[in-house]
Amino acid sequence: MNVSVKPLTPHIAVEARGVDLSKALGDNVFKTLYDAFAKHSILLIRDQKLTPEQHVAFAERFGELDRHVLTENSLPEQPEIFVVSNIKEKGKFIGRAKAGWFWHSDFSYQEIPAQASIMHTLECPDVGGDTMFASAGAAFDALSPTLQRFLEKLTAIHDFQLGSSRVQNKLNKQQLIKKKHFDDRPPVSHPVVRIHPDTGRKTLFVDPGYTDYIEQLTREESDNMINYLARHVTQPEFVYRHHWEPGDVLCWDNRGAWHCAIGDYSDDDRRLMHRVTVKGTATS
Ligand code: SIN
Repeated sequence: MNVSVKPLTPHIAVEARGVDLSKALGDNVFKTLYDAFAKHSILLIRDQKLTPEQHVAFAERFGELDRHVLTENSLPEQPEIFVVSNIKEKGKFIGRAKAGWFWHSDFSYQEIPAQASIMHTLECPDVGGDTMFASAGAAFDALSPTLQRFLEKLTAIHDFQLGSSRVQNKLNKQQLIKKKHFDDRPPVSHPVVRIHPDTGRKTLFVDPGYTDYIEQLTREESDNMINYLARHVTQPEFVYRHHWEPGDVLCWDNRGAWHCAIGDYSDDDRRLMHRVTVKGTATS
C-alpha cells in the first residue's frame, strides 16, 4: 500500500489515503497510521467497506478493546461494536440514539478511560449529523504558563450519570439509561492535565460532559473553571468538524481530543455508525 497522510487543519486531524482497511496492514503501514493518529488526534480514512469482523480486526491493532456499559446497544454478532443509530426496526431502536451530544472524551468516567474510538459510517444524513473534535493538547499549549502550572496540580471527578443526564430528557422512553448501568460506573477521579503516553504532550482532561467538579476548588470556582476551559478548548481554531460520508472510518484519540456529536438532524434522517473502543491506560 502506498499511504499518504495530509493534515486537515493546523492543530487537529489528518486524512490518510491509499489505505484499504479490509486487508491486513503491514507493520510499517500501521505505524504510519498510528503515529499520525497519536500526533494529530484524528485519523480519517474514507471509502472503506468493512465487515464487522474487519472493523474489529483493525481496531485490535491499536490495543485491547473495551466494551460500552450499555451492552444492549452492542451488535449481537460482534459485541465489541457499539451501534450508534437513530433507526428503529419493528418499533425498536437498533442502536443508541443521541449518543455523545455534548463535549466529552469516551469512557472518561472509567478508571481506565478509552484510548481510541474507531467509527465506521454505514448510513448518514446528506446534511447534518456532523461531529466536532477539539484538540485538548493545542488548547493546553495556548494557556499561560501560570495557569498551566495551576491546572497541573488538580484532579477532577468524572461521572457517567451526570453526562447521561445531559441527554436523558431528550431520549425516547425505550432508551432511558437504567440504574444498574449507573451503579456499574461510579464516579472516578482523574488529573485535570494528563500526559499523552505516546507523544508526551500535555492535554486538558476535563470536559463539560462527564466532568462534575475539580476536587481542590469550591463548587463555584470549579463550575467557572470548567466553563472557562470548555470555551477555551472549543474555540474554532482548535476544532475540526467532520461531515460524515458512508464508508468513512474515523479514529479519534480520546487522550488528546474531545468530541461532540451534533444533534441537528431529524428522526427521519437515518444515521447508522459502528464504533469500536480501544482501552487506554491509567491517567496517573
Ligand atoms: C460518540 O460520542 O461516540 C458519538 C459520536 C457520533 O455519533 O458522531
